Amino acid sequence: MKLWGGRFTKETNRLVHNFNASISFDQKFYRQDIRGSIAHVTMLAKQGIISETDRDTIIKGLESILSDIENGTLYFSPESEDIHSFIEQNLIERVGEAGKRLHTGRSRNDQVALDMKLYTRDELDEIDGLLKNLLTSILKVMEEHLETYMPGFTHLQKAQPITLAHHFGAYFEMFRRDRSRICDIRSRMNLCPLGSGALAGTTYPLDRDYTASLLEFDGPTLNSMDSVSDRDYLIELLSALSTIMMHLSRFSEEIIIWNSNEYRFVEIDDSYSTGSSIMPQKKNPDIAELVRGKTGRVYGALMSLLTTMKGIPLAYNKDMQEDKELSFDAIDTVKGCITLFTGMIDTMKFNSSVMETSAKNGFTNATDAADYLVNHGVPFRDAHGIVGQLVLFCIEKNISLDDMSLKEFQAISPVFEEDIYEAIRLKTCVEKRTTIGAPGKEAMSRVIENCKEYLNL
Ligand code: ARG
Repeated sequence: MKLWGGRFTKETNRLVHNFNASISFDQKFYRQDIRGSIAHVTMLAKQGIISETDRDTIIKGLESILSDIENGTLYFSPESEDIHSFIEQNLIERVGEAGKRLHTGRSRNDQVALDMKLYTRDELDEIDGLLKNLLTSILKVMEEHLETYMPGFTHLQKAQPITLAHHFGAYFEMFRRDRSRICDIRSRMNLCPLGSGALAGTTYPLDRDYTASLLEFDGPTLNSMDSVSDRDYLIELLSALSTIMMHLSRFSEEIIIWNSNEYRFVEIDDSYSTGSSIMPQKKNPDIAELVRGKTGRVYGALMSLLTTMKGIPLAYNKDMQEDKELSFDAIDTVKGCITLFTGMIDTMKFNSSVMETSAKNGFTNATDAADYLVNHGVPFRDAHGIVGQLVLFCIEKNISLDDMSLKEFQAISPVFEEDIYEAIRLKTCVEKRTTIGAPGKEAMSRVIENCKEYLNL
């Protein structure tokens, strides 16, 4: 049964029906569709456009549809074109005449615009909650590893010593920004399109402010053409989701490296690892790899929707139905990835002594040796050259700077004194870095306080 059969003399071709239909995926927002319809008829009755009796009959019918779907006694019929038709037809079957008044002053164009916004808004809230959990887990690691020294890298080469708290702190900032992007999108999109009709509003005396407030929007949208054809907020969403995935993917990549046999900085828990069908010794970081891999899907969704939208004249065109599968898949992917990633971090073991040894063996204190010379009056550029010679000497002898004798130091520069050992000690190198944002314990503790406050902990 079609909602629009009146003007037609022939049945729709079966392939055309299947190609056109969206019920197989837009059934995902049946709850939002029913919520929107209840708000719509509440407003229609308040405005005297339908009777209060019809309103009550319709709402009861919609509520019974909702509970039947949820308790599994009502199935979505592939004969329906979309979720909107399915619910309206079912309502008419249940309550008769009154049901036929539901769609007064409404089009599927403003209806689908509303449903997608309601759905997105709910999902944004969920994603925000998941990011908050992830941040809480990251913060826990930061608090426990303020003095876990490790090498910081540039070009994946050991650079300067940092702490695990500092490294995790970098990701805390990234996911904190991701949350603020989610929050921005939510507030910018929070205007209600219902009442825009097909494209040009309606002739009924709708109270759009009232509908908007019933659905917890900040107000109604201000141009009916834009309302039914705006998908900007989904593009913003997919962009924010892509950025979240980019962050998760970088973090995953680091964990994969850290978990490798060569590094052994961390050990992913058995419960978050998988084995090999042939090599009995293997324990693979598949979860981190999958998170890294799924990033491609989410980027793909963003590119797809941008491309879909680029040539569409105003107002509604069917192309826009393509927004759904892309967005649903990206949202579900991101929610799954954040959840799994958080669990992996919660159960991961950190090998502090391995990290510390690695920080000691890689000349990560070379900059500090140069700073020592600078503090004794040597110009930085000369100090850089002198320490370069020290490093060369150590590489030849296969030792670290700390292993050199004072005589050996002084043979390269007479400026070195006994206190050079204290100056290039791993702990000193980190703890001297006390400016805000640096890895020293003092600075990190201040940042941790800020993070706790931000999470209301
Ligand atoms: N399934 C459609 C979509 O997702 C609903 C809107 C249909 N409107 C129309 N004029 N055909 O976009």
